[in-house]
Amino acid sequence: MKEKLEAIKNAAKEAVSAAFDEKEIEELRVKYLGKKGELTAILKQMGSLSPEERPKMGQMVNEAKAQLEELIGKKAKELKNAATELKLKAETIDITMPAKVKKVGKLHPLNTVLNDMIDIFQSMGFDVLDGPEVETDHYNFECLNVPADHPARDMQDTFYLGTNLLLRTQTSAAQIRTMETRKPPIRVICPGRVFRADEVDATHSPVFHQIEGLVVDKGITMCDLKGVLEQFAREIYGPDTKVKFRPSFFPFTEPSVEVDVTCSECGGKGCRVCKGSGWIEILGAGMVHPNVLKSCGIDPDVYSGFAFGIGLDRLTTTRYKISDIRLLFENDKRFLDQF
Ligand code: DAH
Repeated sequence: MKEKLEAIKNAAKEAVSAAFDEKEIEELRVKYLGKKGELTAILKQMGSLSPEERPKMGQMVNEAKAQLEELIGKKAKELKNAATELKLKAETIDITMPAKVKKVGKLHPLNTVLNDMIDIFQSMGFDVLDGPEVETDHYNFECLNVPADHPARDMQDTFYLGTNLLLRTQTSAAQIRTMETRKPPIRVICPGRVFRADEVDATHSPVFHQIEGLVVDKGITMCDLKGVLEQFAREIYGPDTKVKFRPSFFPFTEPSVEVDVTCSECGGKGCRVCKGSGWIEILGAGMVHPNVLKSCGIDPDVYSGFAFGIGLDRLTTTRYKISDIRLLFENDKRFLDQF
């Protein structure tokens, strides 16, 4: 029995010293010291010993038990400390590491300029409306007094989606929709995308942006048109900006003008951006043609109005000195990050 005890002790010591983690050491404690453990089993066999041997053997078993308890306790503590250390190491934060920079989204330059324009017109009492990008021939051309043989109606210039449906070539279509649903006094702008079958180059894109404006009321004259558009140009380009109104032609306005501002790049001296002229064209405008008012059920003998169409892309490229319109549509982050 003594030898058996010795063998158990040795095996236990060996197993304890080899134990790898807290779970294993707990299993060893149960195996040797538990109620059904090996040492307890020996104690149970003591009945077969002679009365003299019994106390000796009892003492030896108790000593072995105490030894093993101490050994297991020590090892358990060691393993626990090692595990804690390992955990701490894994969770260590290196406060000298550079922080992760959170990328914050920002407005596209087109939106920044659009928002500025909306602010300017809203401060003059204009409402902001939306119109559909898929339009009918009726709204995009017919009601705008664009004759059937006008070149803009050609397949070469317009994206047709069917015989009567098309992608709007101008936000002017929104004028008609507005006059059909609102009665004068009308003061609205309608920003949006427009589409033309243009070849892509540094100044042309098949998709671009316009802001349409419409004012209809009693007694509206060309002076109102000039006042509003001059005010707009000075707010966008600065108070010293000169504004020039050139006679022009649009089927839906009479008289019609095109509006130029002093080139923001050279201040009017002439440069590459303004092609040496010192001026940049920013919009088309005019007094709403009586036929257009009539087609919307507004009596041109009682009411008059003016309309304008501003190119948002041109305004943005000149403001930020962007040399190629394509940059606005490619959405290259390296480009957009500069704004
Ligand atoms: N729709 C014209 C274009 O796309 C721009 C324009 C000119 C709009 C005169 C107007 C206007 O409202 O009165 O070129």
